[in-house]
Amino acid sequence: MLRHKLLTLFCSLVLVHAEYTFETKWFEVPLDHFSYQRSETFKIKYLVNDTYWDSGNGPIFFYTGNEGQIEVFTQHTGFMWDIAREFNAKLVFAEHRYYGSSMPFGNKSLDREHIGYLTSAQALADYADLVNHLQGDQIKPQYPVIAFGGSYGGMLSAYFRIKYPHVVAGAIAASAPVHMFPGMAPCEAYHRIVTSSYNIANANCVANIRLGWPTIRNFTKSANETAWLEKEWNLCHPIKNSSDVDTLVGFVQFVYETTAMVNYPFPSDFLRPLPAQPVRVACQYLAEPLKGKELLTAIGKVLDMYTNYDHKSKCMDYQSGGDYGNLDAAGWDYQACTEMVMPMCTTGEYDMFEPSPWNFTSFSEDCHKKYGVYPHPEAARIEYGGDRLQAASNIVFSNGLLDPWAGGGILNSISDSVKAVVIINAAHHLDLMPQNDADTEPVKMARDCHKKNIRRWIRQFHGQPTEGRDYRC
Ligand SMILES: *[C@@H]1O[C@H](CO)[C@@H](O)[C@H](O)[C@H]1NC(C)=O
Ligand SMILES: *[C@@H]1O[C@H](CO)[C@@H](O)[C@H](O)[C@H]1NC(C)=O
Ligand SMILES: *[C@@H]1O[C@H](CO)[C@@H](O)[C@H](O)[C@H]1NC(C)=O
Ligand SMILES: *[C@@H]1O[C@H](CO)[C@@H](O)[C@H](O)[C@H]1NC(C)=O
Ligand SMILES: *[C@@H]1O[C@H](CO)[C@@H](O)[C@H](O)[C@H]1NC(C)=O
Ligand SMILES: *[C@@H]1O[C@H](CO)[C@@H](O)[C@H](O)[C@H]1NC(C)=O
Repeated sequence: MLRHKLLTLFCSLVLVHAEYTFETKWFEVPLDHFSYQRSETFKIKYLVNDTYWDSGNGPIFFYTGNEGQIEVFTQHTGFMWDIAREFNAKLVFAEHRYYGSSMPFGNKSLDREHIGYLTSAQALADYADLVNHLQGDQIKPQYPVIAFGGSYGGMLSAYFRIKYPHVVAGAIAASAPVHMFPGMAPCEAYHRIVTSSYNIANANCVANIRLGWPTIRNFTKSANETAWLEKEWNLCHPIKNSSDVDTLVGFVQFVYETTAMVNYPFPSDFLRPLPAQPVRVACQYLAEPLKGKELLTAIGKVLDMYTNYDHKSKCMDYQSGGDYGNLDAAGWDYQACTEMVMPMCTTGEYDMFEPSPWNFTSFSEDCHKKYGVYPHPEAARIEYGGDRLQAASNIVFSNGLLDPWAGGGILNSISDSVKAVVIINAAHHLDLMPQNDADTEPVKMARDCHKKNIRRWIRQFHGQPTEGRDYRC
């Protein structure tokens, strides 16, 4: 999940390689699960691979799709593929309504008069109906279903188990910021973790990034220097006024943040094609104390790494946010403006960014201007329980400590069956990625732990004893 403000850059997702293969299917769902007066329906997409499935009683591994095309999550959730054979599992990846191709009103879905059926509760109800269908509409379900998800998808996998414990036997909720709601986590947590990730790479890097902000602003004051910067950074659009400068500064900040989020030990094209350990690569350019033009040149190299690692981009489109031409993740902006209110701020003190306080009033006014709605800051906590999950069961919350979203994650086990798995040195849902030669012990241990829990949940579903077995991890 990307931070609200610039989340729309998520739309630049590209599928460079299609590693895994599956069948594409469609499932009809009601537009509105919670009223009996509207009878419209539409179809959501889901992807299936049952090559390894034991259709006698093998489990169904069900990915609760999040904000984007389901194919992207399918291709980047290698963990499910890696363990499918061992568990004789069927893999199902369900697309979230209002994202990808699962649009109830085609390309008008995000218009004000149609967007109201975009809620997590409606999406979970879609998934519950789909699972019921996969169980053959039987009163007694035959197959244990394990939910998987990363980021907002991880929140949904946990919520799926919380709301529909009779439908899913357990949930692996990776990097799920179920705490990132008003009053539950400090608003600066996210950016503090981003900063510490760069600090681990190199302390000069943080000092340089900090000095970068006044330097950028200095160099956009005179026409002469602005022209130099436009050329040096290969910008697609000239910098004409102070609001363009703010947009540019916001873009640079976004690049640092997102690079920290996907700071994987191997090259990945999950959000953008990037090298292994992109934070370390970025900090190599910023390893010595720099200032002025030298500093801006070095920052330009970091921006080029993020925007143009595949050498396909002609120029740096710092104004691109939201304008990539498809609707894929645009719906998140509406969700953030309604039920998924996640306060974010920077202090400039505990982080390397320009200070920017969280202002709910102005956030709320912007939402009203854009969608005609006001956010409900307490909605998600009241609906799903926040961290008050003592009554829940069979959920693993995993978080990598290098992931900025861990600032809103559950890092301590709540009970014997609502457990936290903390992975040092890991970025955003690394544990769901395919196994790789660069994997460290902590991520291998996390995946082993997931497998033990999944085995326990499957035995419970079949009414088999679980005592005396080693499910500790
Ligand atoms: C399912 O995935 C396996 C492993 O990647 C692959 O060998 C198989 O061809 C896939 N099946 C389908 C129907 O795509
Ligand atoms: C929206 O969909 C309609 C019908 O499918 C199509 O004719 C139109 O060109 C689309 N508009 C855009 C902006 O994609
Ligand atoms: C900004 O410009 C002023 C005047 O040219 C200079 O004194 C100051 O050091 C510059 N600051 C930065 C951070 O480049
Ligand atoms: C900016 O002005 C300086 C002199 O003040 C000049 O040497 C330099 O070439 C100019 N740079 C650009 C990009 O116009
Ligand atoms: C600043 O310039 C951009 C074009 O670069 C324009 O779209 C925008 O409206 C301008 N903003 C202000 C406040 O003048
Ligand atoms: C928050 O935003 C509102 C509306 O834009 C503004 O009136 C208010 O002064 C802001 N509060 C702070 C503390 O900046």
